[in-house]
Amino acid sequence: MKPGHSSEARGRRMATKGRPRPASTETAPVQDDIGVEARVVAGLLLNAALEKRNGLDEALSQPAARALAPVDRAFARAVAMAALRRLGEIDQILDRRLQKSPPEAVRTLMRIALAQTLVLETPAFAAVSTAVKLAERDPKTRPYKNLVNAVLRGVGRDGPGLTTAESNLPDWIAARWKAAYGEAALVGLALAAREEPATDLSLKPGVDPAAIAAAVEGEALPGGTVRTGRRGDVASWPTFDDGDWWVQDAAAAAPARLLGVKSGETVLDMCAAPGGKTLQLAAAGGQVTALDRSAPRLKRLTQNLERTGLTAEVVAVPAEDWDDARTFDAVLLDAPCTATGTFRRNPEVLRATRPAEVAKLADVQHRLLDAAAERVKPGGRLVYCTCSLEREEGETQIIAFLRRNPAFRTVSADPVAVGAPPEALTPEGWLRILPSMWAEKGGLDGFFAARLERAG
Ligand SMILES: C[S@@+](CC[C@H](N)C(=O)[O-])C[C@H]1O[C@@H](n2cnc3c(N)ncnc32)[C@H](O)[C@@H]1O
Repeated sequence: MKPGHSSEARGRRMATKGRPRPASTETAPVQDDIGVEARVVAGLLLNAALEKRNGLDEALSQPAARALAPVDRAFARAVAMAALRRLGEIDQILDRRLQKSPPEAVRTLMRIALAQTLVLETPAFAAVSTAVKLAERDPKTRPYKNLVNAVLRGVGRDGPGLTTAESNLPDWIAARWKAAYGEAALVGLALAAREEPATDLSLKPGVDPAAIAAAVEGEALPGGTVRTGRRGDVASWPTFDDGDWWVQDAAAAAPARLLGVKSGETVLDMCAAPGGKTLQLAAAGGQVTALDRSAPRLKRLTQNLERTGLTAEVVAVPAEDWDDARTFDAVLLDAPCTATGTFRRNPEVLRATRPAEVAKLADVQHRLLDAAAERVKPGGRLVYCTCSLEREEGETQIIAFLRRNPAFRTVSADPVAVGAPPEALTPEGWLRILPSMWAEKGGLDGFFAARLERAG
């Protein structure tokens, strides 16, 4: 049985009948008169995101998207993101009205139209008439023009009917999360996946969270992160040029705090780009060396170091191949992973991740963890973290590492001290942050983090 069909889950189903949901604040202003081209690009972006990891970002840099005016491009992206977040529900609504599945191009038109009417509150007449126009334009979809019209008008007339948040999660992912965290957590995760997250800012030590919160119309969270409902181009926000803060999800800020860097300590950040954690480590007073195998991704790190006036030695190299004999007081390994914990900001990760990637990335993490262990001085610390909800990339990795490396032991985390929800603490002393935690504050990304210490 699908997770959403249990009685517990049924109790939490959302009635989507009647009034549409509150408007999304996705970066784009939603306009009724935006033309069909933006909807074409929305469909391209949606399909690119469904096809592969980073597909949406790549498609945004293609000529079709670049030809749009910025406001239209932002609208297209907002529609694609809304469709990705609610894809299961949208398909539930469509499948109820379709006797057999239409060609993919036709489904795309209808998905795009429903994302507009059900999530972005685009008036139905605008979304339906552009969908029909689009169907007319392409010989492949033209024969389905009347079907598109009838289905979309039917949803407008009768309402969408009941849908389940869990239907937005691919089956294999829902099955994994249910097995790992239980049915109630799965429902919480599915609800978190429907929402567009706020923007979180990490502050330099000594900067007053209340002052930044006032400047960006936000609020200070436990741990010092400032959360704001603003989205979009942060470079235009007040206080940006002061270099006192950078964008970083509240959960992503916890692992660097867990490392507990003191002024003057030597610190190695092994997978550093784009650099939110490097900035934290440098701001704490560490003498930081930041490695990453991707030179283009390190550019963002260098720009942020300049803007914030912080310093770090930056080296573009695969961490396991770094030809340097140094060992460090503190090492952070924020390893490459499936990133399934970031589904609030990147809904496409749930669609683009393939089951086989979990094991493949776990191998990479295993190798990098062993390389990290060699860089830790006797008596030094190692924090391992990933933004994945998959246990193979978190708990299982650390259990195996501690077996291979008896010189290391876990030092229990203090979740409150690092700005994580208290319920994130595991019996082993690690942090398992779920996006469903802090639901009343708007949630946070999923993360696993463990602090280990090498015998002196
Ligand atoms: C999760 S991201 C790191 C995010 C970063 N710590 C931050 O806070 O902004 C993982 C990074 O690992 C890098 N990476 C992947 N394999 C690597 C390797 N073998 N050595 C060093 N970096 C690697 C990727 O380029 C990517 O930038």
